[in-house]
Amino acid sequence: MGEASAGASSPKKRLGILISGRGSNMASLVEAAAAPDCPYTVALVASDKPEAAGLAWAAERGVPTFAQSPKGMPKAEYEAKIDAALRAAGVEAIALAGYMRLLSDDFVARWRGRIVNIHPSLLPKYKGLDTHARAIAAGDAEAGASVHIVTEELDGGEVLGQARVPILPGDTADSLAARVLAEEHKLYAKTLADWLRD
Ligand code: GRF
Repeated sequence: MGEASAGASSPKKRLGILISGRGSNMASLVEAAAAPDCPYTVALVASDKPEAAGLAWAAERGVPTFAQSPKGMPKAEYEAKIDAALRAAGVEAIALAGYMRLLSDDFVARWRGRIVNIHPSLLPKYKGLDTHARAIAAGDAEAGASVHIVTEELDGGEVLGQARVPILPGDTADSLAARVLAEEHKLYAKTLADWLRD
């Protein structure tokens, strides 16, 4: 019976993942989706950078991909193309994974409550960029990552889950980023699965 033998369990949610670069968080989500009890299937990986390493990684594994550069067109036109690709793939929820572009209020409104992001800080601390350098400069004892709902406010939506790591003597932004990233990969898949099961 194959997938039908899942019986009374709900059908898997169709997830779209937006990336801009190496896509290691996207890869962790794709790998987690292989588990029979994972509540989502990755329907599309889309990027604003056609050359993003993560796109090639996904395509090699048979995951549908889409690339659209925003260059030379108004933001609304670019976002309409991303939106159309997501809808054509039947996407029901979106995970941002190192997507380095701010989504417009319009786009967020169209997908209200159905977009999540992973941010490399213990929100509400250090919204925006350079989170690890800022945590070290502040003398914090720990850092981490947060998965949150995307709203119109940058890194401002409800936090769904967090992972914490110590900041060690001699840490640089890079060494701390590597320690946090290893936790991001576990945190994102688990938090996303719990959220989609709700
Ligand atoms: C991660 O640190 C994530 O928290 C942040 O951007 C980075 C993306 O890395 N939003 P990757 O592309 O998933 O490897």
